[in-house]
Amino acid sequence: MQQVQELPYDLRPVNQDLRHIDGDYGWPLVGRSLELLRDPFGLFRRYHDRFGPVSRISMTGFNTVILNHPDYAEIVLKDSENNFSAKKGWEPHMAAFFEGGLVMRDFGEHRVHRRIVQNSFKRANLIQYNEKVREICERTVTRWGEKGEIYFYDEIKRLLLDIAFGVFCWVDERDKDVDAINKAFSDMMEGSIGMIRLEIPGTIYHRGLKGRRMLKEYFLRQIEKKRASDDQDAFAGFAKATQEDGSYYSDEDIANHMVFLMLAAHDTTTSSATMAAYYLAHLPEVQAELRAEIERTPRPLEYDTIFGGMPTMLGVFYETLRLHPPVPMLLRRSIRECEIGGVRIPADTMVCVPIMAIHRLPDFWNDPETFDLHRYDEGVDDPNDHPYRWIPFGAGPHKCIGLLFARMLFAHLYTELFSRYELKFARPNYFPTKLQHFPFAKPVDRLPVKLVPRAR
Ligand code: HEM
Repeated sequence: MQQVQELPYDLRPVNQDLRHIDGDYGWPLVGRSLELLRDPFGLFRRYHDRFGPVSRISMTGFNTVILNHPDYAEIVLKDSENNFSAKKGWEPHMAAFFEGGLVMRDFGEHRVHRRIVQNSFKRANLIQYNEKVREICERTVTRWGEKGEIYFYDEIKRLLLDIAFGVFCWVDERDKDVDAINKAFSDMMEGSIGMIRLEIPGTIYHRGLKGRRMLKEYFLRQIEKKRASDDQDAFAGFAKATQEDGSYYSDEDIANHMVFLMLAAHDTTTSSATMAAYYLAHLPEVQAELRAEIERTPRPLEYDTIFGGMPTMLGVFYETLRLHPPVPMLLRRSIRECEIGGVRIPADTMVCVPIMAIHRLPDFWNDPETFDLHRYDEGVDDPNDHPYRWIPFGAGPHKCIGLLFARMLFAHLYTELFSRYELKFARPNYFPTKLQHFPFAKPVDRLPVKLVPRAR
């Protein structure tokens, strides 16, 4: 019989023995999973204060090493020794939805496939998308204004659906399948973030997987048409991308990358836009500052203006992502034994980089709980600065491909919104309200707000 150690890393069982590491697994079976859902900030803080930046915990079904320090985030995410598998980190939780996506591939294979996706997010593509995104945001905010009161989270989800089909994959509105595709997409999104992951008919998870299959089949059917078209969407870019020998990537790969792109773009952006609205409605002085910047900024917003001339918008974006990173923690699995912070990490061990906790470490942030958009201003000399203390988009080989796109969308959305409206909570004494932290941050009640037309 083959020895376990001789098996390829992705076929080996996970190591669950971390007794030599300081920490506390928590309750039998569930470990600290329930606390993780209820109060993740408190949980990570407690472990950090009690056991230090490297500790052991049991959560989401695995004994896991928490690496709560920017230095250790750098080691794992940069991964200069190819020792941390993203595929094995995400697989237990997301394999069914992420199948064939970039985070489900490691090392050399990942590099090759990343090119397919990167091909559609170069500067020239983004300039092209800029116009579409602006149009969609303008139309969306007009619709919101007509309603007056909205559930911000629900509306942002719908906006992202329009972006998905208007920018990533132009769907012909006359296509007889358009309603079915929309539904498949929404079902997939719902299913992918459901907490109960049993494939039982009738459950959100089951509907989600069915939606994923339908969406993938739709993409498979469209690939030839996309290759022959002049479409400028991301999907056309994937379909036309070529490998080093000049051949196209397989249809299976293209369809899986499209599905993953939709998943990666959707809830992350929904969460960040919603959480920004949550703070902005609470902080009228920040709204006023942002509005003043918007009024000084030439419109329509050009790509270069967004990235070079809107520091207040950037501060709001950064600070929202610091306080509520849409991907709250990154998971990896070690391949070989190594040492981090003087602690031995055995082979095949789950490790967690808790972005949400690193973003509030008092050793690296002044007044970490405060929303302060000026902490990033040029000239603010922060002695605690560390390149890995702010990592909402990850870092290293798997760093988010959509970060510029996300920033562009954010800038258009809030420019349209604040140039015409003031944002207020629909209910008095709303802040703070109950937040959900996993799988993405959002107010539990979906953030009811009102848009008050600005006095001119
Ligand atoms: C605020 C919005 C977003 C946040 C906070 C975010 C965050 C992240 C993070 C943390 C990762 C790294 C995952 C890991 O290392 O395991 C990632 C990967 C990725 N993101 Fe984003 N993301 C956002 C928006 C987007 C958008 C809009 C797109 C597409 C247009 C996108 C596409 C991707 C892709 C394709 C990857 C995989 C990269 C790879 O594995 O090589 N993301 N994102």
